[in-house]
Amino acid sequence: MRKPVIAGNWKLFKKSSEAVDLVMGLAPLVKATAGVEIIVAPVFTVLTTVKQALAGSNIMLAAQDCFWEEEGAFTGEISPGMLADAGCSHVIIGHSERRQYFGETDATVNRKIKAALTAELSVLFCIGETLAERESEKTFEILRTQVTDGLAGLTKEQLGNIIVAYEPVWAIGTGKTATDEQAQEAHTFIRRLVAELFDHPTADAIRILYGGSVKPENIKGLMAQTDIDGALVGGASLKADSFAALVNFGK
Ligand code: 13P
Repeated sequence: MRKPVIAGNWKLFKKSSEAVDLVMGLAPLVKATAGVEIIVAPVFTVLTTVKQALAGSNIMLAAQDCFWEEEGAFTGEISPGMLADAGCSHVIIGHSERRQYFGETDATVNRKIKAALTAELSVLFCIGETLAERESEKTFEILRTQVTDGLAGLTKEQLGNIIVAYEPVWAIGTGKTATDEQAQEAHTFIRRLVAELFDHPTADAIRILYGGSVKPENIKGLMAQTDIDGALVGGASLKADSFAALVNFGK
């Protein structure tokens, strides 16, 4: 049985007081929810503040990115060990916005994943095709490359600390969710690929989240798919009531 994960990627939103308001509003709404892993990913500058506000709650903390070196002369970067020190249990790596705007490649994603695992962080590893790639029927080829290169050199044991997030770029922030069938098809492909690259028990155990315009209105249909184990949520994670409705999808 794979435990569902609902994770909120706050992207470049929420200064400290807004961040605290959000988690203080959210915590009581999800307090009684068992059987779902709940994660929020604020910006770096509010991680410690949010960590304090989360004390005693069932909500875990993630960062949105990290560097692959632990320390050194790398102005402006932040290391996995520093994120762990700030109270993070998870880190998002390879988000399409980082690939699109900040030159992230499968090779840098791979280095970051390895560094994060060394620092004992769990990784939300993001992949997904663009609209042009989908329209030219390259979706599965792109996903194959992203998964194969992103997870290159990892052991089966390490895969236990990886959560994959399939986020078709054309569905992010557009209001255009993948259909349940499109999402399920991609998730099945990813799970089979993990079986091919690692083994069947690893593929059966790995959580694969869907991301891209997930809303309280469409979560149930997505979660009903056999290979969808949760959601990575942008816009709808910025309000306590909508994110709580996602976390409480089963109620
Ligand atoms: P939206 O939910 O706003 O489409 O964003 C999805 C996403 O990119 C989460 O990482």
